[in-house]
Amino acid sequence: MTAPWAAAAALPSLGAPPADPLGWPVDPPHVGVGDHTAEDRERFERIVRGHVAYVANMRGRLPDLRYALLDLNAGCGGYVASKQPRDPATGRALRQWGTTPRALRVLERSGVPFRLGAIEHDPRLAALLRTRLSEPEKPGGAPAVDVLVGRHEDLAAAWVREHMRGKVRGLIVHDPNAELSRDTLGQLAALPETHYVDFLLHFNGAIVKWHGTKRHTTVEEALALCGKRFAYVGPLIGNWQWAWLLLSNGEKLSTSGGLVRADRPAGRQRLTILAHTRDELKAARRAAQKGLFDDE
Ligand SMILES: C[S@@+](CC[C@H](N)C(=O)[O-])C[C@H]1O[C@@H](n2cnc3c(N)ncnc32)[C@H](O)[C@@H]1O
Repeated sequence: MTAPWAAAAALPSLGAPPADPLGWPVDPPHVGVGDHTAEDRERFERIVRGHVAYVANMRGRLPDLRYALLDLNAGCGGYVASKQPRDPATGRALRQWGTTPRALRVLERSGVPFRLGAIEHDPRLAALLRTRLSEPEKPGGAPAVDVLVGRHEDLAAAWVREHMRGKVRGLIVHDPNAELSRDTLGQLAALPETHYVDFLLHFNGAIVKWHGTKRHTTVEEALALCGKRFAYVGPLIGNWQWAWLLLSNGEKLSTSGGLVRADRPAGRQRLTILAHTRDELKAARRAAQKGLFDDE
């Protein structure tokens, strides 16, 4: 097997990111490594674990059920985040596993038959992902991932049609750098194969508030776009207010990873914070108080 650092060393002509002594990229571009990364990757893994356990439980009644997960923004699979706390034992920056290897670890441990797809449009990052997935110490066992190099707009629907049909439950994971892709989500939601498949979106609350992006997708739009009835929302992480959002037709999904249903008080509170600036919230409180006094 190619040593990970050899594979990384073969990439500089393509502009490979700087690597640590084991060939793990340090702060790779476009992957969005920041001070929130460790926490929200771990939450991601817990959410997937809860979702897969839910399906494992359904297999008691429906033993033929299989699981499929498609990661639309796979990235490079693992990286060193130089800004994050260092390993106290070695003094080295900690290495972080990304979404695809974490999903693989959960699926391999679940005992549920599965298929895992990973799409990445940057060939340098896709090469690093393949390397991470073939490392002996990667989470889980043998590589069982279709790594597709290209845009999810072009590749996702065909994978879904092939691997999510029949007795399959699963997840489509969308972890973009900023905006959710209306194109891809709309395209996938229109496929009959996704009726029993859920969407897990990494949602950025701050972008619309601080950068005034008019195209930003709200939670309500995301629900409509994905054609699902229920939203489950995770805790808001970091200044950018990143939150995992699980969209499903299931009313009683696992709430692992700190998810709460968006139509419950705690969920509504998170959505309010996601959608409004602090000044807007203060103004709304002042208006409500004024309303109270006006009534007297
Ligand atoms: C926030 S990063 C994802 C990080 C990854 N999920 C992880 O845990 O490390 C977004 C990734 O999506 C990729 N990307 C952006 N637009 C894409 C597209 N249209 N199709 C496929 N990949 C895309 C970027 O190159 C980047 O690696």
